[in-house]
Amino acid sequence: MRKIRMGMVGGGSGAFIGAIHRMAAALDGQIELVCGAFSSSAERSRESGRGLYLPESRCYASYREMFEREAQLPEGERMDFVAIVTPNHLHLPVASMALENGFHVLSDKPATRSLAEALELQDCVARSGCLYGLTHTYTGYPMVKEARARVAAGELGAIRKVVVEYSQGWLADAAAENSKQAAWRLDPEQAGISCCMGDIGVHAANLAEYVCGEIREICADLRAAVPGRRLDDDGTVLLKFDSGARGLLSASQVCTGEENGLRLRVYGEKAGLDWSQMEPNTLWLRSLNQPAQQLRAGVGNLAPETLANLRTPAGHPEGYLEAFANIYRNFAGQIRARITAEPAPEIACDVPGIREAVRGMAFIEGTVSASLSDKKWHPLAAPEPDPHIGRPE
Ligand SMILES: NC(=O)c1ccc[n+]([C@@H]2O[C@H](COP(=O)([O-])OP(=O)(O)OC[C@H]3O[C@@H](n4cnc5c(N)ncnc54)[C@H](O)[C@@H]3O)[C@@H](O)[C@H]2O)c1
Repeated sequence: MRKIRMGMVGGGSGAFIGAIHRMAAALDGQIELVCGAFSSSAERSRESGRGLYLPESRCYASYREMFEREAQLPEGERMDFVAIVTPNHLHLPVASMALENGFHVLSDKPATRSLAEALELQDCVARSGCLYGLTHTYTGYPMVKEARARVAAGELGAIRKVVVEYSQGWLADAAAENSKQAAWRLDPEQAGISCCMGDIGVHAANLAEYVCGEIREICADLRAAVPGRRLDDDGTVLLKFDSGARGLLSASQVCTGEENGLRLRVYGEKAGLDWSQMEPNTLWLRSLNQPAQQLRAGVGNLAPETLANLRTPAGHPEGYLEAFANIYRNFAGQIRARITAEPAPEIACDVPGIREAVRGMAFIEGTVSASLSDKKWHPLAAPEPDPHIGRPE
C-alpha cells in the first residue's frame, strides 16, 4: 500500500485555513501533498507551491489546469483527492470539476454559496461515484465524540435543552474589514447570503446535530451589528429538534474580546454535558443530585470512538490540529478502502459528507429567511439524499 495523494486548491501564502489543512493531512503520515493550484494568480500559485517544495510541474496556474493535467498522469502518480480551501463561491465549481475528472473531494465549509448550489453539488457527487467529505472540524474532537456516544447511549435520558454558542470578536472593529479573510466573508458575491451564519453559525448547528440529532424548526434574528456591512455579523436562533428538545444557537463575530468561543451544553432528564473548544480535552458531566464529574481525554472509561480518535496519553494536550487530522485520517481510510476494494472501517465513515453539506446550506438560508419573516417558526427542510451518495461502501 502507499500514501494517499492530495492536491489542494486555495491555501496560498497569506491564506488562513490552507496551512492548517496541510498540517492536519500530514499528521498521521498517511497522506502526501503532491500538487496544488494555491491562488487565483498563476504566479502566486507557483510561488506558494515552490515554498512547499513541490515539483515545478505540479504547481499549477489554475485549478482547471490542475484537474486536466492530473487526470492525464499515470494512475500511480496522479492525486487521489483534492482539498478545497478557497472562498465559498469557488467550492462548487472546483468540486464539480474535480468530481467530473474522477477525483474525490474534501471541501471546507460552507459546502457552497447557496442551497441550490449544494443540491447541484449533490447531483455531481452522485454522478461521479466519488467520495465527498466536508471539514466540519469540531466533530473531529475526541470529547465531542464522547458527548455524542453518551447522548446516543441514553445516559442523559431524553434531551430537553441544547445550548450551542460560537462567539468570536475579530469583526467587532470595522478596521478588521481590511484583512483578506474579512473582505470576502463580507462580500455576498464570494461568501453567499450570510457572513456569520455561513462562517461559524453553520459549524455550531452541525456540532449540535452531530451530538443531539436533527434540528427540525428554527426562529432566527440576524443583523449586521457594525453599520455598513452587507451581511450579518451576529445572530441568535431558537431551535426545535426532531427529538422534541428545544435549543438556542448564538453565533457572533462581534463579541468583543472573544477568541473561538465554541461551547455546547446538552441537558437531559438525568444529566447534562458541557464541552468547550477552549478546553477541548475536558467534558463535564452533570448528573441529577451528584457533584459534577470532569471527564478527561484518555482517562477512564471512554467510548471506543473517543479512544480511536485520540493520539497522546492523558494530560498531553490535543487540540484543533488533531481534530482536523482526525477528519483527514478518516477520509484517507475511505479512499484506501476504495483502492483495496474492501469495506471501509467504521472509524473511516465518521466524516461529515454531502448530507451534512446540504443540511448546512439549508440552515444558512433558513436562518436568513426566518430572520426576515414575521412568522415565528420555520421548518428546516433539507431534501434527504440517498445515504450512499459520496460515502464509502
Ligand atoms: N473548517 C474550519 O474551521 C474553517 C476555518 C476557516 C475557514 N474555513 C473555510 O475555508 C475557506 C477558506 O477560508 P480562509 O479563511 O482560509 O480564506 P483565505 O482568504 O485566507 O484563503 C483563501 C485562499 O484561496 C485562494 N484562492 C482564491 N481564488 C482562488 C482560485 N481561483 N484558485 C485557487 N486559489 C484561490 C486565495 O488566494 C487564498 O490563498 C472558506 O470557505 C472558509 O469558510 C473553514
